[in-house]
Amino acid sequence: MATPQRNSSVLLIVGGGIAAYKSLELIRLLRTADIAVRTVLTKAGANFVTALSLASLSGEKVYEDLFSLTDETEMGHIQLSRSTDLVVVAPATADLLAKAAQGLANDLASTLLLASNKPILVAPAMNWRMWEHPATRRNCAQLRTDGVMFVGPNEGAMACGESGFGRMAEPAEIFDAIQDHFAGGTNLRGSLAGRKVVITAGPTHEPIDPVRYIANRSSGKQSYAIARAARAAGAEVVLVSGPVNLPAPDGVRVLRVETARQMASAVDASLPCDIFIAAAAVADWRVADDQNEKIKKGAHGPPELKLVENPDILATISRHVSARPNLVVGFAAETEKLIEHAREKLARKGCDLIVANDVSPAAGVMGGDENTMVIITSDGETVWPKRDKDAAAAQLVEHLALLLTQREGR
Ligand code: CTP
Repeated sequence: MATPQRNSSVLLIVGGGIAAYKSLELIRLLRTADIAVRTVLTKAGANFVTALSLASLSGEKVYEDLFSLTDETEMGHIQLSRSTDLVVVAPATADLLAKAAQGLANDLASTLLLASNKPILVAPAMNWRMWEHPATRRNCAQLRTDGVMFVGPNEGAMACGESGFGRMAEPAEIFDAIQDHFAGGTNLRGSLAGRKVVITAGPTHEPIDPVRYIANRSSGKQSYAIARAARAAGAEVVLVSGPVNLPAPDGVRVLRVETARQMASAVDASLPCDIFIAAAAVADWRVADDQNEKIKKGAHGPPELKLVENPDILATISRHVSARPNLVVGFAAETEKLIEHAREKLARKGCDLIVANDVSPAAGVMGGDENTMVIITSDGETVWPKRDKDAAAAQLVEHLALLLTQREGR
């Protein structure tokens, strides 16, 4: 954690969500660290916490009204927006995010966000469906492009009784993000904060009958490491996993599937997202007429299996008309002509980047703990040094975070 900063100041905008009560604890943490806090309470926020609580904890006047004659004569809203080191919005409701993304200025909070020349950190808080809604995703993408920093949201139980992503980050996390910012650390609390990443992992099992299946070889280790790294970088992570022997990474939503078709529909149901990473070793074919009863050995010799092609998940997501993620990443596990085959896949599947792996037995990647990644885009290829799968995952995630912001034109 960063060293506490003295004499910094924060303008805290408290929006209208049940998580507003957590902002009281945030003020206490900031004051304990000697960070001055001036608060702005929106009309909706006043339904959840009182101006008196905010004033008592911050030791400062609370600002509520854009057209208040007393407030404006004491300190005009332009000055209020600029006489701080950092503007923090917690809870940042879907409505406040939408106003900020659109540049609306019809109340004090939105006007301050538009008028401020200071960095802005938002802690979104809303029902998970509101967080997943394409309108909110668009607004968040716009805000990121505008340089707004995000902390959270987290996954968990919500006041409405539902559960999912949209829960405001805990006060201690927001406090850490503020301190990191003041300590001159990364400009973001995690390079993927506020982003959603969907990852496929492991093999798929295609049934022949209830006791037999065909499958690809895959331990899932590299994909699970990528999921952990993306979560550590602050992303909301959905891991669509075929059958593997690995524990669910902390804070990651794991959707367990067996077949390629189940994997395809779980991925589709997880859209929209910012980054899609197809790291699964999907079986290319399934048995056309898999049997409900165990096939018995008989006088007719071994059964003849008719195979049909499975859906290509990576190609489908790359060409998705209404919800193509901003960054689509594929893997190419090859035993020969690594670069040539990976390049061909980049073009055929329509993805933005291919991570190529040499999986020839001599390389020892399959089931092993180390990996050499070759990053292939339309611009060229880069060979990364061999490292353990966690380190390779961390490097890949940082690379993708950077690429994503570049693509969005920030
Ligand atoms: N992939 C996918 N759906 C499939 C097959 C592959 O999403 N049905 C993805 C993999 O997760 C990987 C990439 O496509 O990111 C390449 O997979 P690979 O098996 O190497 O490519 P194929 O198209 O199956 O080509 P081939 O087996 O002939 O090498």
